[in-house]
Parts: sequence; structure tokens; C-alpha cells
Amino acid sequence: MPHKTKKLYEGKAKVVYETDDPDKLILVFKDTATAFDGVKKAELKGKGALNNTISSLIFEILHKSGIKTHYIEKLSDTEMLVWKAERFLVEVVVRNVAAGSVVKRLGFKEGDRFEKPLLEFFYKNDELHDPLVCDAHIELMKLAPMEALPLMRDTALKVNEVLSQFFQEHGIILVDFKLEFGRLPDGSIGIVDEISPDSMRLWDARTGEKLDKDRFRFDLGDLLEGYRKILKQIF
Ligand code: TMP
Ligand code: ASP
Repeated sequence: MPHKTKKLYEGKAKVVYETDDPDKLILVFKDTATAFDGVKKAELKGKGALNNTISSLIFEILHKSGIKTHYIEKLSDTEMLVWKAERFLVEVVVRNVAAGSVVKRLGFKEGDRFEKPLLEFFYKNDELHDPLVCDAHIELMKLAPMEALPLMRDTALKVNEVLSQFFQEHGIILVDFKLEFGRLPDGSIGIVDEISPDSMRLWDARTGEKLDKDRFRFDLGDLLEGYRKILKQIF
């Protein structure tokens, strides 16, 4: 069993530790919920465990579909063992249904389904509020290696197919989600960070109820009740 050696970094939702294996890290999922780049913040007991459980399950589904990620195994309620990666500074968002920033930015109506999935890149930078970027920005600012972009696009769309179908089978609509990528120790490019209701929009297919972090962002109801409903429906 690998164990934590040194704290490497503390983020808004997770703490990252080095381990006795230089290629492996342990992520500890915190009970902190934040929104609007940390402006809104709360401690919600049990959130870390829910996100770790949901995220681990999703990574296992992706592995079964041959998609590379940093995930190795779930170690405990709140801990996940992952490969250490050189993280790229972009976030890749895939959208099936209009919601969130695409409604504000481009005037789509919330709930409208796109003819085909919409893929966008954002610059991972809280101070700048994660602005939308195009390939030319990514190249100029060296946010990710240009040769990795086609693979990131193809992988994100494949993840969308796999997860949309998975959630649909469990009565949930995958509205949109965010992925991050990095270079893994074997030199390949894979998905890093978490894939949880913090980083996805999930609506109940029957009632339309929002089950994800939008509950916290916009005070729509108890956050963890939404996360527990997701877990109950998918497990
Ligand atoms: P957006 O509509 O606010 O651009 O969000 C798109 C998706 O990305 C949504 O599923 C929530 C997720 N997301 C993050 O994971 N981190 C963030 O910082 C933001 C703003 C969104
Ligand atoms: N991820 C950002 C934060 O935690 C923004 C958001 O999700 O709304 O502050």
C-alpha cells in the first residue's frame, strides 16, 4: 500500500501528496465546495467521499472503454492513487445541452440540445476566470503541446459518447463536463484531475432536476442530496 510522503499542493477541492513511488501521487478529496473561482465557499461534510467515489467509478468505466487516465485505484473513502502527470493549462469542455457560460456568452437558451456536441477550450487561470481560448492562444501561450490537441479533442468526444450513454441508462442527462489532460510517466497523454458532479452538469432525465454543483452555485437545493441521488442512480 503506497503512503503519503510530502504534501505537494493544496487546491480548492483536493490535496495532492507525493508517495514513496516518484511516479505516483495520492489525491485527498476535501469537503470544501467552491464556486465562481473560490468566491463562494462552504464546508460540506461527506462531499470529498462522494466525489472520490463517483470519480473513481467514472475512471473505471473510461478504462473499460480504452480511454487513458491518471487513475490507478481508490485507496479509501477520500483518497485516490494516480499517476503523476505534467498537467496542461487548458480545460476541455464538451456540451450536449446549453447551460452555464455558453448561455451567458452566446445567448443559447438553457436546455436546448446542440445538433452535435460542442467542444471548447478554456485557459486554466482563476485570476482571469478561465477565459475561452482558441488554438492560436494555446500555441502562443504554450498552454498545451499543439500535437496533443487532436488527441484531446478525440478523447473528450469519446468520453462524451461513453458517459452520455452510461448516464442515460441510469436516468440522467449528461448536459456538459470539463476534462483536464496531462503527460503521464510513460510519455502518453491522459485525462487527469477528477470527473465528478463538481465538473459535470447532470440533470434527472425524468424530472429535469439539477443534481450537480449548480445546486451550490445558484442555491438550488442541498448539494450533497444531489450527489447522493447521482450515486444511488449509477451504482
Ligand atoms: P461553464 O458552463 O461554466 O463554462 O462550465 C462548463 C462545465 O465545466 C460544467 O460542467 C462545469 C465545469 N466547470 C468546471 O469543472 N470548473 C470550472 O471552473 C467551471 C467554471 C466549470
Ligand atoms: N471551479 C471554480 C471554483 O471552484 C468555479 C466553479 O466551479 O464555478 O471556484
